Order: sequence, then C-alpha cells, then structure tokens
Amino acid sequence: MRIVFLGAPGVGKGTQADRVMNQFGWPKISTGDLLREAVRNQTPLGLEAKKSMDAGKLVPDTVVIGMVREKLADRACKGGFVLDGFPRTVAQAEELSNIIRGQGLKLDRVVNFRVSREDVVKRLSGRRSCPRCQSVFHVDFAPPKVDGQCDRCGGSLVQRSDDKPETIEARLKVYDEQTAPLISYYEQKGELSHLDGTGQMDQVYGRLLSLLSGLGPQ
Ligand code: AP5
Repeated sequence: MRIVFLGAPGVGKGTQADRVMNQFGWPKISTGDLLREAVRNQTPLGLEAKKSMDAGKLVPDTVVIGMVREKLADRACKGGFVLDGFPRTVAQAEELSNIIRGQGLKLDRVVNFRVSREDVVKRLSGRRSCPRCQSVFHVDFAPPKVDGQCDRCGGSLVQRSDDKPETIEARLKVYDEQTAPLISYYEQKGELSHLDGTGQMDQVYGRLLSLLSGLGPQ
C-alpha cells in the first residue's frame, strides 16, 4: 500500500509510521529523518538544511523532492511505502503525484492526523530521541526504562534542537501557512481520510489499522 501521513509537527506521524513499517514491512520514508542524517554526516546538503531546520522553516522543495525521488526509485518501495512528513507544500504534492504516475501507480491514501494544539506542544516538548539508533521516547507518555538512556541501544537521549519552545511555535506557523492547505488539496482529489490522533499510541494505531483495512487487502 502507498500511503502519506499528513499532520502538524508532533501529531505522532513518525510513531505510527514505525508501527506500520514493522507490521507490514512497507518502508517508512521520513524526510525529517533523512535530513537529520545528512546533518549528522555533515554533508553539504545537511549543512545547508540545518539552517532552515533550526529556524523551524521548510528546507527548499527541490532538495526534499530529490531525496524522495531517489528513495521511491528503490526496489524496496515497490510493494508499498509510508511517506512521513512529505509532501509538505503543494509543489511537493504535485511532484509526488508526477513521480508515482510515472511509475504507473497511484497513492492509496493520505491520512491526516488530528490532535489539538495543546497536545501537540506537550508531545513535542517532552520528546527525547536517541542520536545513535533514532528511537523516539517521551518523558511522560513513552518514558525509557532508565532515565535519559535508550532502551534499544543504551545511547544517551537528547532533545531535538527544533523541539525548543520558540522553534515549536515557528514550525506550527509554517505548518499552518504551507502544509495545512494540503488537506483541502487532497480532499478535492478524494484521497484524504482524517484520523483522530488523540489518546494512547495503541488506541491511535487501532484506529489506523481499521482505516487501512477499509481500503482493501494489505
Ligand atoms: P520532521 O522530522 O518531519 O518533523 P515534523 O513533521 O515536525 O514531525 P515530528 O517528527 O516533529 O512529529 P511526528 O508527527 O512524527 O511525531 P512523533 O511520532 O515523533 O521535520 C523536521 C524538519 O525537517 C522540518 O521542520 C523541516 O525543516 C525539515 N523537513 C522535513 N520534511 C520536509 C519537507 N517535506 N519539506 C521541507 N522541509 C522538511 O511524536 C512526537 C512525540 O509524541 C514523541 O515523543 C512520541 O513518543 C509522542 N507521541 C506519539 N504519539 C503519541 C500519543 N498517541 N500519545 C502521547 N504521546 C505520543
């Protein structure tokens, strides 16, 4: 199945995309993860992208479109994929549909996660990530077994540099201005389903599975 997870920062797209990937084996393509990897590796692209990311702004369309195009060409994506955090602008959405159409395929669904602003801010400000294996935790909602230490690899957990209050505010503003218009864009194409992203992670995943099972065999 070929699906897009849409929604404001912190709604839980990455958390649910990991679960889908683990259950169904469809690769997760997260432009945020790919960009953070480029930043860690200090590639020219990463050094350039870091400025936008630290300011809570979007990285230029041409950069992310190039990254996604390369990933979608990979054989691993032939049986389906989950796009997490892409597209984020109408230009990216148009390009995605060109790429997929060029492969003789179509998107199965765009899932729009809905969570209140208050909850999103709580989720983002308490998020902790492992820079070594990229596992994600939350100080209250998904705490690690040992404070500050990754359950999976023992690495030291950190707060993402863009999860500081002033950057969260900037990211939400960018979402409202540049990404939220994609809701009506995909609604008009008849490709959008809304998903209630509130409640515990297992509850959200249950709703997501019901939605996906309504789309046909996985
Ligand atoms: P990106 O990494 O994509 O960030 P984002 O969209 O802002 O999304 P987040 O990763 O912050 O949130 P999420 O919805 O995945 O939530 P998560 O599951 O982690 O992008 C970062 C930056 O890269 C952008 O600002 C931009 O600069 C650049 N970028 C990326 N893509 C781009 C693009 N296409 N174009 C241009 N620039 C791009 O959950 C959050 C927290 O909540 C976690 O701690 C989690 O444990 C917890 N949580 C999850 N679900 C629940 C639940 N049900 N209940 C309680 N807690 C929960």
